[in-house]
Amino acid sequence: MLNFEEDFTPAPQLAPRMPEPAYAPAGAAPVAPAAAQPAATTRVRAADKRVINGATDVNQLVPFKYKWAWEKYLAGCANHWMPQEVNMSRDIAQWKDPTALTEDERRIVKRNLGFFVTADSLAANNIVLGTYRHITAPECRQYLLRQAFEEAIHTHAYQYIVESLGLDESEIFNAYHEIQSIRDKDDFLIPFIDTLTNPEFKTGTPENDQKLLKSLIVFACIMEGIFFYVGFVQILALGRQNKMTGAAEQYQYILRDESMHCNFGIDLINTIKQENPHLWTSEFKAEIRTLIQKGVELEFRYAEDTMPRGVLGLNSAQFKEYLRFIANRRCQQIGLDELFPGVTNPFPWMAEMIDLKKEKNFFETRVTEYQTGGALSWD
Ligand SMILES: [Fe+2]
Ligand SMILES: [Fe+2]
Repeated sequence: MLNFEEDFTPAPQLAPRMPEPAYAPAGAAPVAPAAAQPAATTRVRAADKRVINGATDVNQLVPFKYKWAWEKYLAGCANHWMPQEVNMSRDIAQWKDPTALTEDERRIVKRNLGFFVTADSLAANNIVLGTYRHITAPECRQYLLRQAFEEAIHTHAYQYIVESLGLDESEIFNAYHEIQSIRDKDDFLIPFIDTLTNPEFKTGTPENDQKLLKSLIVFACIMEGIFFYVGFVQILALGRQNKMTGAAEQYQYILRDESMHCNFGIDLINTIKQENPHLWTSEFKAEIRTLIQKGVELEFRYAEDTMPRGVLGLNSAQFKEYLRFIANRRCQQIGLDELFPGVTNPFPWMAEMIDLKKEKNFFETRVTEYQTGGALSWD
């Protein structure tokens, strides 16, 4: 059996460490290190690139320095999919059939969509209006552009499921205001997103660089790395029981994309750490561990709310174990000690779902190909 998230990439191979950024004395405007300020006519050297606070031309993708980012961009493109590829007719028939799904199963579907229909818009806004402008490595920006489009595809997929099943759109799209367990997760995330999207916020001081790093960790390791996983397990468990297989297939593609987003975020975080080791203080590490612990608590409360009784052979004790298992993995990936030593993965089948190859899905509902360039005509 595969271990959880076999597709995690190895730690990024980093170029030799860049010089420490030259921070200005307190109160003064930050200055970039002289070595990172080539004259306008100087050609870009890979060695001068930095993930944050870089001074090289962000319009020049090459020479590459961060190959791991470029490779993830290529992998993201190779995984391209569209929601309309998935046939939803069985799901529609099951949803209409009063005997096909229990009330608890219907609650799971609605709560799931209630969280995800707005979560991926939050993710997209965080990338486009926040993260992107603070990242000075064009290879990483290139991946972020791909990721932003994938978030749009995810929002599209959730909307497509809502529409296919004929759910009350207003109820689902307002769930993040009206359902407490969803609201609590978003309330936790929004201050960290606001930091990055605030037009006044600029990196270049140790304090602000730590704020950026913290928001990146919250986004990759807690939002994409923990807050999505109860929902993914639930819908994929439905699919494994031959229920809502179209929705489950959509979630399978989304899970693969999110796994890549999380891995990219972790590589980004580790590279920033390596280039700016002064940010990774013991105080900062303790704060991150506390945030991850809080994330686990919020996601567990969401699990309890979405499935107050055992359903689909799943129960909340398994979710507690699973979330702790994932949290340990996230800690380990960014170089922190495990929060919950000794826990194991109660859902080993999730690893197979993450390892999906596009040509082969577990639910076999895909009926159409999206049309690349189908509209092109030179006549
Ligand atoms: Fe997404
Ligand atoms: Fe994502």
